[in-house]
Amino acid sequence: MHCTRKITEDLYWVGASDRRLALFENVYPIPRGVSYNAYLLMDEKTVLLDTVDASVSRRFMQNVEATLAGRPLDYLVINHMEPDHCACVEEIVRRYPETRLVCNAKTVAMLQQFFDFDVTGRTDVIKEGDTLSTGRHTLTFVMAPMVHWPEAMVTYDTTDKVLFSADAFGTFGAIDGNLFADEVNIERDHIDEFRRYFTNIVGKYGPQVQALLKKAAGLEISMICPLHGFVWRENLGYILDKYQHWSTYTPEEKGVLIAFGSIYGNTEEAAELLAHKLSERGVKNIAMYDVSSTHSSVIVSEAFRLSHWVLASATYNGGIYTPMEFALTELKLHNLQNRTVAVLENGTWAAMAGKQIHAVLDTMKNITRIEPTVSVKSAVKPAQVEALDALADALAASVQG
Ligand code: FEO
Repeated sequence: MHCTRKITEDLYWVGASDRRLALFENVYPIPRGVSYNAYLLMDEKTVLLDTVDASVSRRFMQNVEATLAGRPLDYLVINHMEPDHCACVEEIVRRYPETRLVCNAKTVAMLQQFFDFDVTGRTDVIKEGDTLSTGRHTLTFVMAPMVHWPEAMVTYDTTDKVLFSADAFGTFGAIDGNLFADEVNIERDHIDEFRRYFTNIVGKYGPQVQALLKKAAGLEISMICPLHGFVWRENLGYILDKYQHWSTYTPEEKGVLIAFGSIYGNTEEAAELLAHKLSERGVKNIAMYDVSSTHSSVIVSEAFRLSHWVLASATYNGGIYTPMEFALTELKLHNLQNRTVAVLENGTWAAMAGKQIHAVLDTMKNITRIEPTVSVKSAVKPAQVEALDALADALAASVQG
């Protein structure tokens, strides 16, 4: 059975959702599933824009076949070669052998890496600014390297002002019937997953996203059709503003992320005391996470959202407590910068975590420290309460300043 959505007079969503996959990219928990979007333009020529993950190939093929309704498939535009989108390219080629594969030179190389079919004579290799006329519509192509792979590009329909944005503007979460962003409550129900998707998948490539946003600013866009999640046809400024913040590593909100790694609860107690002291000083928007039980993708996402971080870690094997070390590595790998950070360490015979956390922070860009590091020996004592008061004063002044 097919399951499609009409988007405009001649544009159809022919993608599918996966609610059975536990980990996207075998890394990121997706309790609400994920959608793989593909679009079919039924002009004088028919154009499929991207395919889907292998897990939903059956539904996708049914959708394509039903929408074509016996017409040939003239073109397949391949905006992105990651297998969550390109997995069905070979099947499309088998079923529709006359289809021209519209892609850039880097994509051709990847097609040959991923697949065994002979691409010779099947591809129309395009470059930035080239156009494809399909009848009423004219498509043009904009390279978007590293958003999120080197071959990534986006396609712009100059006729209806539709941007097929590849991974950009996507999110985790299945399509529960409502395909359009204006059919759901994004701010209440979805923005955290938009952020977790963007920051973890593409967050490292802020400058490249900025380059794409600058190119997009020169286009009149009435609709954004991404490869995951909702189609945007209203309030585009809202999601563009989020992308502006995320891709420039600018905090969305003043507030404090407290990430703690605690073995027996004493480091957690110090972190919690600090949280309460901050609140007593009028600091709002405090978010506290146990790095042992919180997926690192949430820590990364919250670190993008908030202006200030407190990293509180036990000492373990003479270094940073392993789950904290992993979380900190993730923050560094995602190119996080422009934050104000305080450090809290704990150790029974030698508190070593703080020094090593600072060494990692030294390698990140534009990190402002709030000193001194609060050092706990096993458990919080009056001397540490005093130190936490001083830290809370300094942090509160910085957040509210
Ligand atoms: Fe959704 Fe980079 O693939």
